[in-house]
Amino acid sequence: MQANSNEPVELQKNLLVLGIETSCDETAVAVVDSHRNILAHSVLSQVDDHAEYGGVVPEIAARQHISSLDHLIRRTMAEANKNFSDLDAVAATTGPGLVGGLMVGVMTAKAIAAASGKPFIAVNHLEGHALTARLVEEISFPYLLLLMSGGHCQLLATYGVGQYERLGSTIDDAAGEAFDKTAKLLGLSYPGGPAVERAAREGDANRFPLPTPLLGRPGCDFSFSGLKTAVRRTAEACVAERGALYPTDRADICASFQTVMGRCITDRLQHAIDAFRAKTGDGPLPLVVAGGVAANLYLREQIKSVARENNMSFHAPPLALCTDNGAMIAWAGLERFSLDASINDQEKAPRPRWPLDENALPKVGAGRKGPKA
Ligand code: KG4
Ligand code: ZN
Repeated sequence: MQANSNEPVELQKNLLVLGIETSCDETAVAVVDSHRNILAHSVLSQVDDHAEYGGVVPEIAARQHISSLDHLIRRTMAEANKNFSDLDAVAATTGPGLVGGLMVGVMTAKAIAAASGKPFIAVNHLEGHALTARLVEEISFPYLLLLMSGGHCQLLATYGVGQYERLGSTIDDAAGEAFDKTAKLLGLSYPGGPAVERAAREGDANRFPLPTPLLGRPGCDFSFSGLKTAVRRTAEACVAERGALYPTDRADICASFQTVMGRCITDRLQHAIDAFRAKTGDGPLPLVVAGGVAANLYLREQIKSVARENNMSFHAPPLALCTDNGAMIAWAGLERFSLDASINDQEKAPRPRWPLDENALPKVGAGRKGPKA
């Protein structure tokens, strides 16, 4: 069993960290302290700006971050009733993500840090998701992390802050991307995840049988692109048969799609649990889910029952902390700072690609936010 080598030491001081997130289409800012208090947080979604394009347009995203960030920081600091001089560090997402947005957040955070004589902490966006559950409750390392977002889908053995071993990842689309593409194909709103989940609630999952990718195959990798093609064919068949795609057709396809996503994810997860147990032994182990797709209540229930069957405790951040937010970045910065108070990343530049497990080879090419693996 791997030692909990970098569990945070008990802090003498209550640290206060400002976190800035601008890696994709949310401008988000938060102030968080060591006692798991989120003193203030603001998220400005750009969903409406990108909706007509059916996906995030990097140029528009960067411009929106520039025009909103200063104001959002001022407002969040005022709500927290703090000045920059009260902070111990300033953290910003430094990768992976869209480089224009990353530059806005990183430059702003570095400027605030330099002007107020505080360290700047470069945070990996994925580590932000990976550690969010620890902002909500005390969870000890090691734990198994299922990270499902718009750009990523991975299973990671998490041994400590900065210590991740990738057990599996997608070989094509990310889980959120599969939801987004399905929504787009069916004419549902962007972002697709919440729209598909809503439609699925009204649908019959048995009307359109869809194939479950990689079901029963060895390993912990994911694949969702074949499912997307099956959804398209099913929708086309409906239109050919009845002249249009009716709301009931949409709902039934969504229900079937979501059920298959659940079946695929839990099948891969079981393999990862077996691999993780082989490394860590038989004791009770935490299972943590993170990322925007973890906001899906149907998938949460499916994953929770796998955890139960495997004698694992289940941990999921509240829905607002699953999708991108500033608190997760502030917290990841705080966790790193609490382990090494001499840290200062002023020299670090934005990294559009930045895997959590630097030793794992990429499985697929560039995605919306860097390599999907
Ligand atoms: O973590 P996140 O906010 O951003 C990335 O880091 O990518 O995740 C966004 C993704 C989108 O693809 C969105 O459709 C998906 O999470 N998502 C959901 C739900 N809410 C957001 N997917 C399924 N069900 C949901 N309820
Ligand atoms: Zn994210």
